[in-house]
Amino acid sequence: MTNTNKAKMIIDKSFKIAEIDRRIYGSFIEQLGRAVYGGIYEPSHPTADEDGFRQDVMELVKEMQVPIIRYPGGNMLSAYNWEDGIGPKESRPRRLELAWRSLETNEVGTDEFAAWAKKVNAEVMMAVNLGTRGIDAARNLVEYCNHPGGTYWSDLRKEHGYHDPHGIKVWCLGNEMDGPWQIGMKTAYEYGRLAAETAKAMKLADPSLELVSCGSSGSGMATFPQWEAETLEHTYEYADYISLHQYYGNRDNDTANYLASTLDMDNFIKTVTATCDYIKAKKRSKKTMNLSFDEWNVWFHSNDQDKKVDPWSFAPSLLEDIYTFEDALLVGSMLNTLLKHSDRVKMACMAQLVNVIAPIMTETGGGIWKQPIFYPYYYTSVYGRGTALHSIVDSPKYDSKDFTDVPYLDQAVVFNEENEELVIFAVNRHLENQLLTEVDIRSFEDYQLVEHVVLENDNLKAQNSINEQIVKPHTRSESFIENGSLTAVLPKASWNMVRLKKLKQS
Ligand code: AHR
Repeated sequence: MTNTNKAKMIIDKSFKIAEIDRRIYGSFIEQLGRAVYGGIYEPSHPTADEDGFRQDVMELVKEMQVPIIRYPGGNMLSAYNWEDGIGPKESRPRRLELAWRSLETNEVGTDEFAAWAKKVNAEVMMAVNLGTRGIDAARNLVEYCNHPGGTYWSDLRKEHGYHDPHGIKVWCLGNEMDGPWQIGMKTAYEYGRLAAETAKAMKLADPSLELVSCGSSGSGMATFPQWEAETLEHTYEYADYISLHQYYGNRDNDTANYLASTLDMDNFIKTVTATCDYIKAKKRSKKTMNLSFDEWNVWFHSNDQDKKVDPWSFAPSLLEDIYTFEDALLVGSMLNTLLKHSDRVKMACMAQLVNVIAPIMTETGGGIWKQPIFYPYYYTSVYGRGTALHSIVDSPKYDSKDFTDVPYLDQAVVFNEENEELVIFAVNRHLENQLLTEVDIRSFEDYQLVEHVVLENDNLKAQNSINEQIVKPHTRSESFIENGSLTAVLPKASWNMVRLKKLKQS
């Protein structure tokens, strides 16, 4: 027998949070493991195009409608010389890549990545090295990428075959500079000063840039949120966003607690927002600092395996988490959390995109397959466009090891006015009971149910592989609309998308 819990929601067109910035569905490719080599780039692959890019990978990235992709790192950024990755491939230096202790051939660099991003209809979110380098390298890279011509660096780009500027708008000022694992780690004062001066020079080179100041590497850092407060004292004037990074993992095999991790994510966003607003007030500034959650995902499955990988190999299998069904539930919930904060979170990057903690997996020389986490990302990216709506929720709750009052119903609501669609994304965190959710859709009375897509599985640890897509969505037909109310039946431990559309007048 199926046990049932009940929840209620009220949705109204006028309960607006904000217009969703499509860049919250961004992703990330780091020159790490098989993300680039054997992932997006593999000249000998049967599907490779004239530039060596795998077209099977490009097709899936396009299917996910990824609007912006962060590059080139990540930890590798902090010792990266961008000049190594430009010009004739045969003369590019092979280097020891110190962050992941691999061999970097530099076969793919700035120009190739910008060209690939264009092919998959994505913008580049470029990052500059503030670990071993600084102002000079950063301003030169801006000139190389964005200046039309007639200067040393812009003419060099043209010489390399890229006549038109890459036109890269969003730039990260370093990566996780608070982290002791980072090459050239900085104190908040050191980073704040360097980031501000670098930002100043970059904006002089191209005033249209949007810059991201480094926030903490995670909510668990001992220096959080003092890092944000102190660095923003210096960067507030020049930066447009501050970054947040967060990964979760079910290390104790406590699924109820794991699925509640988004309460931490929610609190992280609220604290960073409050810190930004404190600095705004302190500086008597008129500018509001927005948030770029430019690394988020589940990451823990591959941690032990990675310790056994021999150093200095080319494109080793690193961070190749094989995700489970329950990871997909948390990823769905993380996306819901981003949507609910779309008034301040304007960019976000699922880390990462291919092979490295990724929704897309490839076999080098072989096929391609979708991890369970692919699906909530795909549906939320494709259908979660428009205005995020606040909703009033009455859900039964539970306590877990680290969290209290965790609602079984986790949700986000999007109204796409242009397509006349109302979309509810929901996770039922209850591991045994289905959740009968009654939704008062008062201002959407002329809307009808189009589909209820569900990701469910009796085995929380179910995984996909190149041979089998065990975890994949299907549609269910129990949900219905009656008297201005939607009744949605959310199966136990499930991710759901309920999509409504305005009735066509005949
Ligand atoms: O995405 C994997 C790593 O996580 C990135 O290189 C780093 O920025 C973060 O610690």
